[in-house]
Amino acid sequence: MTERGRFITLEGGEGVGKSTNLALVTDWLEGRGLEVVQTREPGGTPRAEAIRDLLLDPGSGEPLDSDAELLLVFAARAQHLARVIRPALARGVWVVCDRFTDATFAYQGGGRGIASSRIAELEAFVQQGLEPDLTLLLDMPVSGAQHRLEGRLDRQGGERDRFERERSSFFEAVRLAYLARAAAAPERMVVVDASAALCEVQARLLSELERRVSAWR
Ligand SMILES: Nc1ncnc2c1ncn2[C@@H]1O[C@H](COP(=O)(O)OP(=O)(O)OP(=O)(O)O)[C@@H](O)[C@H]1O
Ligand SMILES: [Mg+2]
Repeated sequence: MTERGRFITLEGGEGVGKSTNLALVTDWLEGRGLEVVQTREPGGTPRAEAIRDLLLDPGSGEPLDSDAELLLVFAARAQHLARVIRPALARGVWVVCDRFTDATFAYQGGGRGIASSRIAELEAFVQQGLEPDLTLLLDMPVSGAQHRLEGRLDRQGGERDRFERERSSFFEAVRLAYLARAAAAPERMVVVDASAALCEVQARLLSELERRVSAWR
């Protein structure tokens, strides 16, 4: 029987460098001869990406109810798990994902104020016990990450999405919720200081990855 693939997630608030470092993680794993699927949440399949668009669209007046937001996040996740993540892991392929359920606890829990117990009910319903084997949490002060985000928007254009338009108190709450998740699950989650220069962040990420992956094999 094929050995199940491993599931690695990158987490952190807006602009900390998740997308920048995703390819690094994928390349490192592929360099070790592993087959890797690189994906993201919300999204990762055409229908789940359509749900992502609904979630990120700033809209034209109608606020999105927090419970509706939470259910949309998990609807997209159910589709992504069914179509991409579970089949890949079952084939022995590794999955590297930009955000997953820790982001739901951070944004819909910490940011929107939904009780963790309610989020955990949906997590159990949708994931049936599946969780990442390793989560790399990129952490830095909110002001610095906002600065990076602004730099990216200046260079690449584009509008701020529905989350990026939130107040800094929202992002502070997201950051604290992420750090609390990491403190409660030190075996699975590693906090990496994302405020350093990119080469330093990358060196730290790779050393954590190396340490964890070599322990599995
Ligand atoms: N260590 C770093 N030092 C300086 N700039 C960085 C660093 N890491 C990433 N950046 C830059 O910061 C910006 C945001 O990075 P990136 O888009 O990867 O963040 P993200 O976490 O994916 O953001 P989002 O939450 O919006 O998806 C980019 O312009 C990127 O080039
Ligand atoms: Mg990104």
